[in-house]
Amino acid sequence: MAREAESKSDPLIWFEELYKSSEGNEEMIPWSNGEPNHLLVEWLEGKPPQGRALVVGCGLGEDAAYLSKLGWKVTAFDISPTAIRWASETYGSLDIEWRVEDLLKLPMEWQHRWDLVVEVHILQAIPEEVRVVAAPVLPSLLAPGGRLVSVGRVNNSGVEITGPPWPLNREFISSIGGDLENTSFDLPTESINGEEIQRYISSWKN
Ligand SMILES: C[S@@+](CC[C@H](N)C(=O)[O-])C[C@H]1O[C@@H](n2cnc3c(N)ncnc32)[C@H](O)[C@@H]1O
Repeated sequence: MAREAESKSDPLIWFEELYKSSEGNEEMIPWSNGEPNHLLVEWLEGKPPQGRALVVGCGLGEDAAYLSKLGWKVTAFDISPTAIRWASETYGSLDIEWRVEDLLKLPMEWQHRWDLVVEVHILQAIPEEVRVVAAPVLPSLLAPGGRLVSVGRVNNSGVEITGPPWPLNREFISSIGGDLENTSFDLPTESINGEEIQRYISSWKN
């Protein structure tokens, strides 16, 4: 679906197509398992909720729900209307603002507004020509003192990988925070079905 979309005028349309065609069956969504991202969960330990959190490309909303339960005031957005409807129904009991938005066309008033911006597996899921425009938006969303955290796969191979996902190279990962102060960078390795997967979790402070 992703490759077909790339050859069309909208390389991101396949996300909505996938969510829609899954007809509410979470097993059809390869990145969702009903749980918040465990690297994000670990990173959040010892960081008390401090205001407004924005979850970028929230998918089915597990990370947004986790942050909300911790006490953050959460807004979560995704480009897919079906994903947002699904997430808002799943977590209807939580006080989360769910929005259909495109990272490339966010409301102006979201600039410099957020105490925490969370990006899990978005940049690696979009083609390079979109990614290079999308990544610089992230630091501009932070309020003074705010934090940005990004989680994804690493490409250590030096050769281009046919995605999605497109694991990110180290140079690109360091550039995500722009001029912000980098406050942590970890490279955990996970074994999934016998395959060694290198991930990263990196955070910055405004
Ligand atoms: C690989 S999924 C990850 C979803 C979620 N963060 C997670 O970890 O389960 C990528 C998500 O980014 C969303 N997305 C892709 N491009 C986007 C954009 N330009 N603006 C907002 N959301 C986007 C997709 O619809 C999809 O839900």
